[in-house]
Amino acid sequence: MSQTRTLAEVCTLFTTAPPADRVAAVARAALSQCSPRAQCPMYLSALNKAVSEELPPFATDSYCDIYRGAAADGNWLAVSLMTNAEREGDGATRLWSLAACSDNRREQQLLKRHAVDESRHALHYLALLDLCFPDTVAPSFRAELDQLSPGYSMDQALVAVPGSPYARTPSIDDFAQMNIAEIRTTLHHVMQRLAIAQHCPADNLAKATAILDSLLGDELYHVSYTALLIERRSRDAERDRLPAIFCKRLRDFNRITSEELERRNFDS
Ligand SMILES: [Fe+2]
Ligand SMILES: [Fe+2]
Repeated sequence: MSQTRTLAEVCTLFTTAPPADRVAAVARAALSQCSPRAQCPMYLSALNKAVSEELPPFATDSYCDIYRGAAADGNWLAVSLMTNAEREGDGATRLWSLAACSDNRREQQLLKRHAVDESRHALHYLALLDLCFPDTVAPSFRAELDQLSPGYSMDQALVAVPGSPYARTPSIDDFAQMNIAEIRTTLHHVMQRLAIAQHCPADNLAKATAILDSLLGDELYHVSYTALLIERRSRDAERDRLPAIFCKRLRDFNRITSEELERRNFDS
């Protein structure tokens, strides 16, 4: 991303890109944020091949139209923000276990930071709920919602959640799944941003936009750091496997997204 381009402009870039290029546009924007600018040719080639084999539903105009229709209802958007908070908290817990089990110090620190980010995002979504829909959630229930964030911080010791399927050493396949999930979250963010602008009281919009900018910056970072890890692991050993991993995992995500779409579920 160019230094002069604002995050709002980046969102416009994603929405105006042709659907077939939307996923790659997110990946390129994320990598352009890295300093020095990152080149990940094997990663980008595998991602593009997967998209060309099966266009993700979350990159299509009809998906955006369905989201816009659902989000016109303020109650729906309020519930969606709470569900986002829940998913961010769950994601943080999974990442915490993966980080705890990583056998690579650098990857471990990156995963730990990612878990801390998602833990904070759970609270960000609740803050958006407060700003967009003030006084609509009963105070006692609102206080309970804060528990959706596991409250991780970088100075906490990593411990795998006993019995978690994520209490295992992370693989390139895990990083590919995370990368696709983060791209989908980024595209959801763009849709959500427009819906929030429609529902948020004018006095609260500047605060809401600052939170949205922080979320978008983090999600783009999650796309770029996983892309860099995938590229490095491919260079070391797993180059031949990468296109097949991306094709399979994107197909999986597309199926999950289509099932969620039937339930009008568009969460991160
Ligand atoms: Fe997040
Ligand atoms: Fe993320």
